[in-house]
Amino acid sequence: MFEIIKENNKYKNLVNGSWIASESNDYIEIKSVLDNSTVGFVPTMSQKEVDNVLENAKVAQKQWRETSIDERANLLYKAAEILEKNVGVFVDSMIHEIGKDKKSCKSEVLRTADFIRYTADTVRTMSSECLVGDGFYGGNPKKTGIIKREPLGVVLAISPFNYPINLAASKIAPAIAIGNSVVLKSSTQGSICGLHLVRVFEEAGVPKGVIQTVTGKGSEIGDYIVAHKNIDFINFTGSTDIGKRITSKCGMIPVILELGGKDAGIVLEDADLDHTANQIIGGAFSYSGQRCTAIKRVLVMEEVHDILVEKLLNKIKDVTVGNPLNGDFDVVPLINDKSADFVMGLINDAKDKGATILYGDKREGNLIYPTLIKDVTLDMNVAWEEPFGPVLPIIKVKSYEEAIEIANKSEYGLQSSVFTKDINKALNIADKLEVGTVQINNKTERGPDSFPFLGVKNSGIGVQGVKYSVEAMSRPKVTVLNI
Ligand code: NAP
Ligand code: G3P
Repeated sequence: MFEIIKENNKYKNLVNGSWIASESNDYIEIKSVLDNSTVGFVPTMSQKEVDNVLENAKVAQKQWRETSIDERANLLYKAAEILEKNVGVFVDSMIHEIGKDKKSCKSEVLRTADFIRYTADTVRTMSSECLVGDGFYGGNPKKTGIIKREPLGVVLAISPFNYPINLAASKIAPAIAIGNSVVLKSSTQGSICGLHLVRVFEEAGVPKGVIQTVTGKGSEIGDYIVAHKNIDFINFTGSTDIGKRITSKCGMIPVILELGGKDAGIVLEDADLDHTANQIIGGAFSYSGQRCTAIKRVLVMEEVHDILVEKLLNKIKDVTVGNPLNGDFDVVPLINDKSADFVMGLINDAKDKGATILYGDKREGNLIYPTLIKDVTLDMNVAWEEPFGPVLPIIKVKSYEEAIEIANKSEYGLQSSVFTKDINKALNIADKLEVGTVQINNKTERGPDSFPFLGVKNSGIGVQGVKYSVEAMSRPKVTVLNI
């Protein structure tokens, strides 16, 4: 079923129901993160080609919005089934293209199938409602409001490299479920996974033009597409820098932005330190810390600092390191040289300013060994920057107030964890943290995907999560009957 999306390893884009080769014969070579071998070539689309895609999306959406929710939900169930059946294809594609280990690739694909299915379940319950105007002050029983949910039109979905299936599908499924059409622009490293995913929706029977793809470097085509007159909504996941750039270009087009994070694990003196160390190490190092929700700093009360450090040091030795072609590993090569250079820069800056490296600080190509740093002070870049790599700084604090102050001083506000046996303390601290989600006695993480997921400050705008994504990509339409 995937043969039609490429010819001689040159991938095509889905445009108005047909897989189309590059018009200009201009391609980007996608090399494997793992061994530099060629995974395939994806077209660099021109502005003219993008115009055509967006014109089709406008036309297709007008018909698509007229279909019933039942019809759309059934297509989503079918897509989920096809995705699950082809899990092996996706796992292979992801391992080579983004270097994720097999187990994590598989779980991403299965989680995505669940997401799509749950979107279909949810959208069925989000049907129209009626309100009678008699309840409001001075009530008027002669007014009846019919409130329907209207799609917004054409949704531009821009996804990052780290979850190329999940973070593309979690935009596509809610968008089309409520009657939008979608144009997917995947991250270039990850775009082959994105094209495979779109083929699944096509195979499920999504009509022509309702989902289409655009490939090409964001740095070249991004500014053009985000400001395009035919885009009605932008659903973006990626770095804060690019998120900010998009808002500076897109004018009044509404957006959801899921951006970077610097999630803190706050450890109180009464925490179960074995459990805490397990959670922190898992949260910090899985997929080499290339997760927006990775634990990216530890703020620990001085009374338990040394014991926690010892436990983290013991635990980090269990973190497995290697090439996903040879097995399942927690820490795998980073996505590119630039990312690996950046992470090493953070480690070196911390060393230069007096931090103590407890473990790691070793690089082989793009593979950076899990690195644990203590004696981290607030003048070090690693205390504030999002590494998107396997490095964990530990900061000692004297009080809860100090922990909250440092946590909130970050430009980011995605999630935080609080580890303690005292639920009152946990809830008090949770109330004061400027983040979208606080996890109590658990690592920071996104799932279950039905929960609202959001970042505050430089971590984002808007709310995702199945129901919330459907709401964000639709609006109420009120028709009032006056009798
Ligand atoms: P990125 O470099 O910002 O790229 C994200 C997407 O934006 C890619 O598709 C990229 O395409 C595209 N892009 C680049 N320049 C653009 C422009 N001028 N206009 C429009 N689009 C443009 O991020 P990444 O390295 O893929 O992902 C890592 C970042 O994503 C981290 O900061 C992480 O925290 C964040 N993230 C956040 C969440 C969340 O839910 N909050 C989830 C996952 C990841 P090209 O690849 O072609 O450049
Ligand atoms: O960074 C991707 C984001 O979606 C995180 O998901 O499940 O790794 O917390 P998760």
